[in-house]
Amino acid sequence: MNRKYRKTVIAGNWKMNMLPSEVKPYADTLRALAGKTKHCEVVICAPFVMLPQLIKALRDCRIAVGAQNVSDKDSGAYTGEVSANQLRDLGVKYVIIGHSERRSYFGETDEMVRAKVTAAIGAGLIPIICVGETLEQREMGVTKDLISMQVKLALSAVPPEKMRRVIFAYEPVWAIGTGKTASAEEAGEVCSHIRAIIRSLYGARIARAVTIQYGGSMNKDNAAQLLSMPDIDGGLIGGASLDPEHFAAIIEAANQ
Ligand code: 13P
Repeated sequence: MNRKYRKTVIAGNWKMNMLPSEVKPYADTLRALAGKTKHCEVVICAPFVMLPQLIKALRDCRIAVGAQNVSDKDSGAYTGEVSANQLRDLGVKYVIIGHSERRSYFGETDEMVRAKVTAAIGAGLIPIICVGETLEQREMGVTKDLISMQVKLALSAVPPEKMRRVIFAYEPVWAIGTGKTASAEEAGEVCSHIRAIIRSLYGARIARAVTIQYGGSMNKDNAAQLLSMPDIDGGLIGGASLDPEHFAAIIEAANQ
């Protein structure tokens, strides 16, 4: 983390978990444990159907709400899609874009990621852009090349003045939901690489202001070590965010 230049952001990604009836008790517990965090921004990214309820339950506290996907279209005849403007109007602040689960199970391409990032920024949402390699790609030694391509394509339509409202999440696919975390050094090295690419595209001043998270089996026991790396500015947390007490312990680690 480097709080001098950029915001630390701890985001929970509920994925397709939790029920609407569980939102209020969860939010009440989290608000009591972490509603006044000073040194980091806290976000919960919930399924669409729970967003209105979550926003209401977290009103007047410092915990923000995010979505897990967004349409690249503005409005119109796109049955089943949800637009960036609809999310913004509801009070959503962040949106995860290009999660590896969307890339691998729903065919999301770098081109679609680019279009969704553009739509999100246009509506005033902060995209959390996910990038990461599979185990096979890591073993082939192409991690950095692949990440460079994902980052460059995602940003190809983002002008410099909007870069302060972009977050990256480095999520190695082999570490997601597997209990296998990247070591702090492995994760830190790729996050530094992401910052170097941003620097080559936008210059040093913009690059040092961008928040870059790590995601993949992050938990209360490994969070402090991961966050001690200079280029890891937060976490995108799946499984461990489903329990508000466990999630609050990670937030606590980021507040140290
Ligand atoms: P886990 O924390 O469950 O490994 O999930 C990480 C993730 O995919 C967050 O987006």
